[in-house]
Amino acid sequence: MTDTPPSPRSRPAPIIGAAPADLDRAADVIRAGGLVAVPTETVYGLAADATNGKAVAAIFAAKQRPEFNPLISHVASLEMAARLADIPPLARRLIDAFWPGPLTLVMPRADACPVSDLVTAGLSTIAVRQPRNSAMTGIIERTGRPLAAPSANPSQSLSPTTAAHVAASLGAAIDLVIDGGQTTLGIESAIVDVSSETPILLRHGALARHEIEAITGPLRAPDFDAAVTAPGMMRRHYAPRARLRLDALDHDPGEAYLAFGQPPSGVRATLNLSADGDLAEAAANLFAMLHELDARHDRIAVAPIPHRDLGEGINDRLKRAAAPFEKDSV
Ligand code: TXA
Ligand code: MG
Repeated sequence: MTDTPPSPRSRPAPIIGAAPADLDRAADVIRAGGLVAVPTETVYGLAADATNGKAVAAIFAAKQRPEFNPLISHVASLEMAARLADIPPLARRLIDAFWPGPLTLVMPRADACPVSDLVTAGLSTIAVRQPRNSAMTGIIERTGRPLAAPSANPSQSLSPTTAAHVAASLGAAIDLVIDGGQTTLGIESAIVDVSSETPILLRHGALARHEIEAITGPLRAPDFDAAVTAPGMMRRHYAPRARLRLDALDHDPGEAYLAFGQPPSGVRATLNLSADGDLAEAAANLFAMLHELDARHDRIAVAPIPHRDLGEGINDRLKRAAAPFEKDSV
């Protein structure tokens, strides 16, 4: 957290459901320039009208997010995406295969793109995704506007997978929370930059690399320059208050143990990401279990997670969560 507190609201944001009347109310708040926490299939997003610069600025203030870190624009259709971005042929094939779903595409910004420059942090590219969640797409359809939505958590802290996570950390800084239950995938979307000749995997996520590569061929890892254009790639991110020790095969008395699969003999799991060793289940549980352990422990030992399929996305988040805290570590 940095110096300025989130802008105070007169009362904590109401938490409402995801029925049609609730989505009508959320759409009214969005049209009026307000901030609404909305579930997606990955994590809860903090949504505002992407075409309203003032509303977008309020997202950055509520999250204490550096303003040069651009946001994803969420759409409800290919037509809406085409108003925001010039969609390259490779992107079109990825869209056909994976939208709606947990894949964000970084594409050249369209000339007539109505999205605020604050969303794209002044870049010539824009990140777009069509989520697979009826609450989020229902609000986009009602407003007819793309929604800018980062994960609904204070910058650099754990991402929220329940409405309660959002209310506990940002409730005082936003206008409304839609409770759609626990998110199904549990980690953020994968991000692929298709704005130049060679596609680059900017962020591992809830769509495994091999699934994307089945369409794109081998993806390049972000090099230093790409890391600068995707400043969300901070070394410390997704971080709990507790200290994390990774690849742990044991734990000392002061540490909680977050297991994956069968714990090593003699080790008692405090929580288990997936007793069956299922990486999709582990991804879905990751942030919720870190939230839960963080509330009760100062130190958490985490079992090794296989570095394949969704394990790449899980390990990426664990590595950033374990990195030492550095102020302005971008
Ligand atoms: O699953 C998700 O992607 C969630 C849900 C709410 O949709 N959203 C999310 O947003 O994770 P956020 O803001 O936490 O992460 C967006 C990432 C950041 O790392 C940002 O730097 C990158 O997208 N990004 C956005 N626009 C970009 C651009 N034009 N070029 C490169 N990276 C970009
Ligand atoms: Mg985030």
